[in-house]
Amino acid sequence: MNPDRRPLIAANWKMHKTLAEAISFVESIQRETGPCSDREVLIGPPFTALKAIRDNLKQQGYSLGAQNCHWEEKGAYTGEISPLMLKDLGCAYVIVGHSERRQLFGETDETVRLKTAAVIKAGMAPVVCVGEVLGEREGGKTFEVVGRQVEGALGGLSAEQMDGVVIAYEPVWAIGTGRTATPGQAQEVHAYIRARISSLFNKAVEKNVRILYGGSVKPSNIDALMAEPDIDGALVGGASLEVGSFKSLVQFNV
Ligand code: PGA
Repeated sequence: MNPDRRPLIAANWKMHKTLAEAISFVESIQRETGPCSDREVLIGPPFTALKAIRDNLKQQGYSLGAQNCHWEEKGAYTGEISPLMLKDLGCAYVIVGHSERRQLFGETDETVRLKTAAVIKAGMAPVVCVGEVLGEREGGKTFEVVGRQVEGALGGLSAEQMDGVVIAYEPVWAIGTGRTATPGQAQEVHAYIRARISSLFNKAVEKNVRILYGGSVKPSNIDALMAEPDIDGALVGGASLEVGSFKSLVQFNV
């Protein structure tokens, strides 16, 4: 972690929690952690709980985010949610290009690019997910794949539009498997992404962009991950669902 970049601990609840469960969670976590000034906490519930969480998020340092969106502002897209609707609900962030969306719902670098631009246009910050599958890592293709995804999502943006953009490196083989990348493995890819950002934009964007690690982050491994210089936070699935484990993550030590 670099003190110039405020660490971001993000909960990706995926398709979990009823309204009552979501409200109870956010009431408890805010009570347990108190205000957060040197770190930011992002809650990413399913769409159905966004408004209720917005109404119950009062603690300093807490933000609201969605897990996906469409790239159009409105139109005949049955079942979709537009960035403007999410902004209207109080979202500050939208996760785009999560590997589950890429693998299970047909998202491509092109749709991730469209969504990223639409989220920025609507005045929110995208959390752009990238990461290689196991075969790509074992085949020595990690940098190639991650570089292509980063460029695919961000390539057409200006340096100004990059203000606030967050990247999440999530090796697909580490998501929900209990198999975390080692801090060294993660740092190596984070440093590569940062260098790639420098060549796509400039040194200022390289220095300011926050890059989160995701994939089986838990209380027992967060401190070592956060100690790496290019890891600026975590995108957390499983361990974000329980107040006790998420509190430990929010209260990581460096
Ligand atoms: P996990 O999920 O923490 O359960 O591995 C991370 C994610 O999918 O963002």
